Amino acid sequence: MGNPFHDFIDVLILLFITSFQFDGEVRFLVGDIAPWWIQKYEPILARLSRHDIVDLNRDDVVRCFPHVIVGLRFHKEMSIDPSRTQTGLSMLDFGRFVRRSFGLRRESATKLGADRDKKPRLLIIARRATRVLENVAEVARAARGLGFEVVAAEAGRKTNLTAFARLVNSCDGMMGVHGAGLSNFVFLPMNTTLSQVVPLGQLDEIARVDFGAPAEDMEMKYLQYGISDEESTRFRGVLIQALEFLRQE
Ligand SMILES: *[C@@H]1O[C@H](CO)[C@@H](O)[C@H](O)[C@H]1NC(C)=O
Ligand SMILES: *[C@@H]1O[C@H](CO)[C@@H](O)[C@H](O)[C@H]1NC(C)=O
Repeated sequence: MGNPFHDFIDVLILLFITSFQFDGEVRFLVGDIAPWWIQKYEPILARLSRHDIVDLNRDDVVRCFPHVIVGLRFHKEMSIDPSRTQTGLSMLDFGRFVRRSFGLRRESATKLGADRDKKPRLLIIARRATRVLENVAEVARAARGLGFEVVAAEAGRKTNLTAFARLVNSCDGMMGVHGAGLSNFVFLPMNTTLSQVVPLGQLDEIARVDFGAPAEDMEMKYLQYGISDEESTRFRGVLIQALEFLRQE
């Protein structure tokens, strides 16, 4: 845990699949608790369970329950298969649930050109360390030229998640390079577009499975853009190294 992608695909969506049916009347028993994580996702956890979490590493009493589920249920990457739940629970329900948990107001997006006084907002998830979009200013300029208001942001470990979720929910589209930051699409309103830029390395399929299909399950539109050899500085770097290696050999 700690990487937002894994927070959602390994814990939060599974917890939702497993415990939403109890309508809050459920108690979480957790081993190896990371307090900062519980605090970060408190809006979601508090909506799933009305009761305090039991820290199993410190709990020294015998507890009796009429019913216990050990572990969590998993269907597929970053999504839910409604046919495997009793009530037909879907990613749309998860989206609604997340928006309510964080008090996000917008359920669906503004159509481009629908309101003359209000430009649709495009969020660029701008990674700073790796897989950097080097021409982010140019991308933002092009988007502004198309009539968008552009916001560039990246959430870090210390970012206030409620505030960041509100920022995401205020947008009508989101784009970014393949990576954990794209998991924030769960805060977007419906009818938005998620665009994923996929770097070199045969990641097309995994990129689609991790974010494309889940976004479509939430009734968002999805666009995937594969970076070509010429566009990737990383590729040029690797190529130059390989050529130098060959020359030395
Ligand atoms: C996080 O942001 C929300 C919304 O802006 C605010 O209400 C809350 O107090 C902030 N929490 C912390 C710990 O700063
Ligand atoms: C999304 O857009 C489609 C097509 O314009 C429309 O039929 C649908 O009702 C919209 N959904 C929401 C939640 O706004």
